[in-house]
Amino acid sequence: MTRSTVLRWAVQSLAPTMMLRRSARAGELGPRLATDRSLWDDPFPSYDEMRAQGDLVRGRVVYATASHAVASEVLRSPVFRVGVNAASLPPLARRMMAVAVDPEHPGPAEPPSMLAVDPPQHTKYRRLVSKVFTARAVAAMEPRITEIADELLDKMSREKSVDLVEHFAGPLPVRIIAEILGVPPSMHAQMLEWGNAAAVTLDPMLSYRSFRNAAVALREMHGWLDAHLQALRRNPGDDLLSKLATLEDEGEHLDDVELRMTALLVTGAGFETTVNLIGNGVAALLANPSQLDVLRAEPAYWENAADEVLRYDSPVQVTVRHAAEDTVVAGHEVSRGRFVTLMLGGANRDPAVFADPHRFDVRRENARDHLGFSAGIHFCLGASLARLEGATALRMLFDRFPGLALDGTPVRRQLRVLRGFERMPVTPGRTVSATAIPR
Ligand code: HEM
Repeated sequence: MTRSTVLRWAVQSLAPTMMLRRSARAGELGPRLATDRSLWDDPFPSYDEMRAQGDLVRGRVVYATASHAVASEVLRSPVFRVGVNAASLPPLARRMMAVAVDPEHPGPAEPPSMLAVDPPQHTKYRRLVSKVFTARAVAAMEPRITEIADELLDKMSREKSVDLVEHFAGPLPVRIIAEILGVPPSMHAQMLEWGNAAAVTLDPMLSYRSFRNAAVALREMHGWLDAHLQALRRNPGDDLLSKLATLEDEGEHLDDVELRMTALLVTGAGFETTVNLIGNGVAALLANPSQLDVLRAEPAYWENAADEVLRYDSPVQVTVRHAAEDTVVAGHEVSRGRFVTLMLGGANRDPAVFADPHRFDVRRENARDHLGFSAGIHFCLGASLARLEGATALRMLFDRFPGLALDGTPVRRQLRVLRGFERMPVTPGRTVSATAIPR
């Protein structure tokens, strides 16, 4: 494993890092944002700077945009793809691509993950998974979200000071995803550990150590999911993964690898992001107490508040597409094979769409127009679940602990693509009993 892991790290991480560093040294803002960790805590001035340079900023290797209009156009265009067609690459790039992935244990953003394939493969996966992951199935999860949140908040109420990420923002989405996948409680902590290790693979710049840890976690996760799926096939439960594993639709079904990849993607996409929606939401509300007053006076705004968090402090900051053919975007020619980095977090602060974009405003009328869930065919499949979990978690937390306050400086995760907190020490303060809160 070591030699091939080193090779894959060299292709997937070392080579892009060197390329990005070179472009960053030449003054390109997109690569600077990818490589300069000092910009990660507050990337928003850099997004403004990028927009001032143009709607689409041309770099030596990649293009970048922080414009809402351009990011939307690229995400919705059939010309821009997620998968790279190896046959269209020069021989050296083709050879590099061949060693870049571990075909037996791909990551959540590698084929055949839904996130990394184009139509017609994507259309098939999306259609089958959507059959199970319906609006009705999501709505039916609300009582469980409330029940789990209540349980976690009860535990928090017994503490003077707690880490909100460890005790609330993290475990809530993990437990929901675990129920979707029929994962037993004894495996929750392990899932969280695997998910955390795998989440870093979304970033282009990884140390060998992080890359190797992620590779080990992915191997273990694939092995466990394989056995889990076989058990679900033999003895299906009431969970969505069992339904997906036994689904047969017009002769189509997901094979074992496709199912495993879907489970792996839902694991990563489902909790590594929602934890950040809750954490970023708590931080934004504590920093803007007048907005909490608005929500206390008008609780109907909690749903909009979740969207405003997704806009203002997007849990997924960046995604990438490449042009499958020569095309024109915002008046710029983009040639075939070129990558475009889409700064979702920057598009969400674009003043052309959001008035006074750096203000956190839970009553913002068009908060839902954010690109925090992407757009086009890869629009987040779990968006309605994430919205429901985010709004429910934030409302219940602040209802139970009206005096919730920070107890030290929160620490951000050192990641570029995902944006959230590693730790957030808080004092719950006075507790309102769950039964005294109108539901
Ligand atoms: C706040 C929480 C979440 C955020 C911010 C988020 C964000 C995103 C984004 C930005 C994408 C598309 C990336 C791209 O276009 O390149 C995506 C795709 C996806 N998300 Fe989410 N997500 C969240 C929660 C969830 C949950 C809870 C689930 C499942 C239970 C989920 C499942 C998926 C799946 C399966 C895809 C791939 C869809 C496709 O390629 O067609 N996500 N998500």
